[in-house]
Amino acid sequence: MVSDLQDQPLTDFHYLRHPYLKPMQKKKEIVLSGIRPTGFVHLGNYFGAIMNWAKMQDEYDCYFCIVDWHSLTTHRNSHGLKENVLRLLSELIGSGLDPEKCVLYIQSDLPEIAELYLYLNMVSYKGELEKTTTFKDKVRQQPDNVNAGLLTYPVLQAADILIHRAVKVPVGKDQEQHIEMTRNFADRFNHYFGDVFPAPQAFNYGEELVKIMSLDGSGKMSKSENQMNAIYLADDDELIRKKIMKAKTDQGPEEPHSAKPDFIQGLFNLMQVVSPSDVLKKFEEDYNDCRIRYGDMKKQLAEDMVKFVGPIRSRSHAIRHDHKYMNEVIEYGAVKARASAKATLSLVREAIGIRYR
Ligand code: TRP
Repeated sequence: MVSDLQDQPLTDFHYLRHPYLKPMQKKKEIVLSGIRPTGFVHLGNYFGAIMNWAKMQDEYDCYFCIVDWHSLTTHRNSHGLKENVLRLLSELIGSGLDPEKCVLYIQSDLPEIAELYLYLNMVSYKGELEKTTTFKDKVRQQPDNVNAGLLTYPVLQAADILIHRAVKVPVGKDQEQHIEMTRNFADRFNHYFGDVFPAPQAFNYGEELVKIMSLDGSGKMSKSENQMNAIYLADDDELIRKKIMKAKTDQGPEEPHSAKPDFIQGLFNLMQVVSPSDVLKKFEEDYNDCRIRYGDMKKQLAEDMVKFVGPIRSRSHAIRHDHKYMNEVIEYGAVKARASAKATLSLVREAIGIRYR
């Protein structure tokens, strides 16, 4: 039995000789981002994150991770987790992430992250974790499940980032505090044990980002609210049309060049990202001249949206049902990500002095 256990690393060794594994070129800056497998991907996720990740693949050495462990901090039972992870993976690829260009993998395939999380827990303090905005929000949202994983969520996120010694982390504004904490943990680690980690920075797309609003204009498009107010990559054509036709509008402007209410601006923003520019221009002009007909605008937007989402949905669907391909992608991502993670972890162990033979 004992020798069986000792044989286990050989399995890993076998992985290293996997025919897929090409030596990684580590010349470009390292980018990492993560996404939680907690529901359906909507247009806010797509235009706010995924599309931009896809653009970064050629320029950077990119790691994109499905963070299934993180989702356990809020979802006590793992019901639906597998389905969510697999659908998300297929939607990421369907949206343009290329498993040959970036390292696309699942967090729980890297036990190295859990080990680094353990070490980073020694350089993170209860006080700062309790002060984190996202933690305080979650305490309010789930008072009956304030588990230690929730408290140390930023430490696990730091481990995700630092395990590849990433320097750029493309995230939205709501994640900037976590990236700042990651920098602090990295700094402290370096201070106590020696220089291992570069300082990661949040990467902003800045001005270029078009705000994707909920279809009733009540803030950002998000997973949690009414499903009719968000458009998901998995929505079929009829559902997309229905959602857009039901989107909130009003009587239209009464004065030329009026400011737009949020729910109207939201529709224009959607048009900006999926419709041809002359179409957008026409409706902008109609609005400014007070002759806009929202029914026509929504019909046009619905058709352009169907044209945009349809191909992503069918690609994702085909990928999701090609089990052989899905398994290969998962394996390929895990092998490439582990090679990088192992290299970091051996530096970490060396720095701490955890090596006894
Ligand atoms: N906390 C991030 C979110 O809620 C997800 C995440 C986990 C992440 N690990 C990460 C993002 C590492 C960037 C880098 O969106």
